[in-house]
Amino acid sequence: MFDKLFNKFSNDTKEEIKLDENKMPQHIAIIMDGNGRWAQKRDLPRVAGHKRGMEVVKDITKTASGLGVKVLTLYAFSTENWKRPKKEVNFLMDLPVKFFDTFVPELIENNIKVNVMGYTEYLPEKTQKAVNDAIEQTKNNTGMILNFALNYGSRAEIITAVKKIALDVKNQKLAVDEIDEDVISKSLMTQSVAPYNDPELLIRTSGEERISNFLLWQLAYSELVFSDKFWPEYKPSDLIEDINKYQHRDRRFGGVKEGK
Ligand code: FPP
Repeated sequence: MFDKLFNKFSNDTKEEIKLDENKMPQHIAIIMDGNGRWAQKRDLPRVAGHKRGMEVVKDITKTASGLGVKVLTLYAFSTENWKRPKKEVNFLMDLPVKFFDTFVPELIENNIKVNVMGYTEYLPEKTQKAVNDAIEQTKNNTGMILNFALNYGSRAEIITAVKKIALDVKNQKLAVDEIDEDVISKSLMTQSVAPYNDPELLIRTSGEERISNFLLWQLAYSELVFSDKFWPEYKPSDLIEDINKYQHRDRRFGGVKEGK
């Protein structure tokens, strides 16, 4: 299966990388950064970068699904992104409408299920409708979950979870001593992609090396890969290269390797 994928993308692959099927990350999260800089470098308006970035989402989604990834979480709009110019925010709010308008048939063809996490109730009606329609149209798909973080912020997510747990304690549904990692994990938005709540691999494009309020709890033991590519130029071969980097990391989870 992987060979077929390589042939398909061979025109953008510098050298052939053989991925280990037994070490595939089940959940990959991506901070898709650098749309604005990609556009500005070409004397284009910033939104041209977002538009191109949307096309890249399609390619990367199909590649990840073909590789057998179970969950692909994409940071599409943060709770802080409202600070951008109104025109840019409006454009970003239109993107899910454009994206699902053209891409749902391919999602169905590839057995991909759409999920969204974030404070979606604050999104414009048209954006909510596009997202909800896509969730409905793909709800019976059993393959990869394409999980969009939309109006998502990890500190806000943690505050919401703490409030929920505090209420459960107050209403005597939960004892203080019962609060453990599992209770917290189940109270976070990634419970909607259980059992793959925590990504094994986080990729951030554009050369920036920050987490930017993304999945703060869930990334505790994730491998972080920072790519120098701007998101609009990120190719399937870059994803394969970054998964390859992940596969060569020594994951110890605070322990030591047996026999060492
Ligand atoms: C960060 O680049 C990117 C975003 C804030 C938006 C991400 C959105 C997409 C990639 C489009 C796909 C979305 C959907 C819903 C299909 P930036 O603007 O911060 O870039 P810069 O750091 O160079 O300014």
